[in-house]
Amino acid sequence: MKSQVIKFFACPVCKGSLLSDSSDGGIETGILKCSGCGRDYPVIRGIPRLLPDSLLKILASQIPDDFKGFDFAFPLAKRTSLSDFETEDFLKKQHATMNAFAYEWNEFTELTPEFCENEYTRTLAPLSPDIVKGKTVLEAGTGVGFFLDRMNSHGASLLFGMNLGLDVETAKKRTSRWDNITIVQGDIFHLPFKPDFNFVISHGVVHHLPDPEMGFKSLLTALKPGGEVFIWVYGKDPAVPFIELIRKVLHRLPKPAANAFSIPCALPLLFFKWVYLGLHALKQERLADMVPYKQYAVRNFREMHCTIMDKLFVPVVNYYEEADLRPWFEKAALKNIKISGRDGNSWSCYGIKSA
Ligand SMILES: C[S@@+](CC[C@H](N)C(=O)[O-])C[C@H]1O[C@@H](n2cnc3c(N)ncnc32)[C@H](O)[C@@H]1O
Repeated sequence: MKSQVIKFFACPVCKGSLLSDSSDGGIETGILKCSGCGRDYPVIRGIPRLLPDSLLKILASQIPDDFKGFDFAFPLAKRTSLSDFETEDFLKKQHATMNAFAYEWNEFTELTPEFCENEYTRTLAPLSPDIVKGKTVLEAGTGVGFFLDRMNSHGASLLFGMNLGLDVETAKKRTSRWDNITIVQGDIFHLPFKPDFNFVISHGVVHHLPDPEMGFKSLLTALKPGGEVFIWVYGKDPAVPFIELIRKVLHRLPKPAANAFSIPCALPLLFFKWVYLGLHALKQERLADMVPYKQYAVRNFREMHCTIMDKLFVPVVNYYEEADLRPWFEKAALKNIKISGRDGNSWSCYGIKSA
């Protein structure tokens, strides 16, 4: 992590500025100290772990060896465990979400370049994929970080990607060749950033939060006046009740079992892909257009398998109508609101924070 980016960080608990005693160009292992409340946060493998007390304690139990070397001036034991809004149930969901995605993105690390560019441009449409040009961007919930590398190649100047759990390790490895990308472990509900961003994006994340609207509001706190927010979330489609019925059972399975079970669940997507491509080969474009889930035809089987993991094996999934989402943007007094349907089963939503 480059020392120059520390000025963008804020304490996830009190929003104070973070300071480092390292004066060199990069920090691989170290401590960032809050100038407000005195809490300190470790940097491990070049990733600042800017989590609130409750989640930092969970992280310390997941990677105890990495925490051994840290001499905390503000010891873990002294940290209060929950914030005002964090009930035990809320924290339980956060913990389960942290683990589900850490497993998913340490398992599905590679996505084809064609899939990544296609997903990025189709998601942002009708906005230009170059909308990020010259901007300081935060991606909240970056997964393996493929939107970060797409936004980088579309001209963003400085990028930060954040994940809740240990999927940060994959995102870090995947993006470490770019100097202008920083990976942070943090929580949307305790956003560890100052309001310094021109563009905040969250793709496929808000619908997995225990309180999605509160999470959305929290994202806005990282924006400068006049900054833009973009989220992509799942929409309601006729298959949702069926998918939810299966998910409520399957997400309790141990992760390797869920992984194996999602292979047969992905087979229908492969079948529809073949039908779609077959109809195209026969020049039956109108029929091809009617094939369900044709949007997955650009994906290989591994990417379909990963899509199924994302829908069936995570603890929280919400599905929206446009009428659910528009009030979030209006209540926040955002301007130029654009909510566009994608593939009949999701929503791309955009707005600008008042100057
Ligand atoms: C479905 S993945 C989407 C990843 C990526 N945006 C993509 O489209 O491939 C959801 C991501 O959100 C992150 N996430 C979930 N809850 C979060 C929270 N409260 N704060 C920060 N990140 C969170 C997870 O770590 C995971 O990487």
